[in-house]
Amino acid sequence: MIELRRYWHPLATAAELARGKPLARTLLGVPLVLFRDASGEAAALQDRCPHRHAPLSCGRVRKGEVECPYHGWRFAADGHCTTVPGMELPVSNKPLVHAFACQIAHGLVWVCLEPDAATPPTVMPAVTDNVDYFFMTDTVNCTIQQAAENFLDGFHTHFVHAGWIRRDSQRQSVRVSVHHLADGVEARYSDEGLQSGLVSSLLEGDRQTSMGRFRLPGVAEIEYRGRRGLNLLISAWLTPESDNCLRIHARVATRRGILPGWLKQLFLRQLFGVILRQDKRILEQTSQNVGCFQEAGLDALLLDSRLDLLASSIRQLLAGEMLTVEDGWMIDCWL
Ligand code: FES
Ligand SMILES: [Fe+2]
Repeated sequence: MIELRRYWHPLATAAELARGKPLARTLLGVPLVLFRDASGEAAALQDRCPHRHAPLSCGRVRKGEVECPYHGWRFAADGHCTTVPGMELPVSNKPLVHAFACQIAHGLVWVCLEPDAATPPTVMPAVTDNVDYFFMTDTVNCTIQQAAENFLDGFHTHFVHAGWIRRDSQRQSVRVSVHHLADGVEARYSDEGLQSGLVSSLLEGDRQTSMGRFRLPGVAEIEYRGRRGLNLLISAWLTPESDNCLRIHARVATRRGILPGWLKQLFLRQLFGVILRQDKRILEQTSQNVGCFQEAGLDALLLDSRLDLLASSIRQLLAGEMLTVEDGWMIDCWL
C-alpha cells in the first residue's frame, strides 16, 4: 500500500475554516483541530488538550490561538502553550500539542501527517482558468477504492442514476481507451453521442470527448469537453477519515459563460445533490455488505469484467504497484 500519511489530503473548504471558530476533522484515524492563526493561515493540531485531554475543537479561537473549552489553556499554531489562566506561564521551548503540516490551496485546507522529501504537492484540478466553480462536501462510509471506482464507472449510471445520467434502454456504442498518467490512470471516451439523461441535456450541447481519471492519493475526476472547450469538470478528493469512512470534497466547475456563476450553482447544487445521494446510498449498501461477509469469514475476490475499466489500475496505484494495463488499451462497448 502507498503510505497515505505522507500525502496531502483536503479536510475542509477554505470557506468552512472561518476565523474564530475551530473545526474538528479526522485524518487516517487522527483527530485534528483546524483553525486560522492571527495572520489567517490555516493550522492543524492534534485535537487533544494535554491537560485533561478535552477536545480543543470544542473550544474557540482567540487572537489566532485555540483555547481549550475546559480550563482555557491556549495553544498557538505550532503547538506551544501560550496561556494558562490563573498563573504565570514558565517559558517553554517545547510544543505541548503535536502540530501537523497544513496549508490552503485550490480553495481547500490540506493536511499532511508525515511529510517527507518524497511527498508530492497537493493535487490540483485539471482546469482552473476561466471556470465558475463551487464545492459540495459529504462523508461516505466506504473505501477510497470503492468511491473512486463508483465515481469513474459509467456502467452503473443507467441503474443508480436512471434517467438522470443515462438510460438502460438508450445505450450507444462508444470507444474507450485507457492511458497511464504520471500519478494515475485515465479513461478517454470517444464516439459517444449525447447521453440520454437529464444532466447531459441540460449541460452539454456539443460533447466531443470525455475523460475519467484517478490520481493518487485519491482524486477522481470527470471532464466533459465540447467544441468550445470545457463543458463540465467534477474533481472529487476522497479523504480517508479512517479505513472505511471518507470525507469527500467535490469541486463542480463549468466554463464561464453568459449565466452568472451563482445562478449555475443554485441549479447544479440541487442536481448533483440528488446524484451524490444516489451514489452514497449504493456505496454504503455495498461497503456494508462487503463488511458483513468479511466478518463472517466469507471473504471473496471481486469479479471484475472488462467494463471495470479503471478498477484494477486504481487498486494497483493504491497498492503502490506498477500498472499492468497496456497504455492506450482500447475497448468498444455499449454505454
Ligand atoms: S483540559 Fe484543556 S485546559 Fe484543562
Ligand atoms: Fe454515480
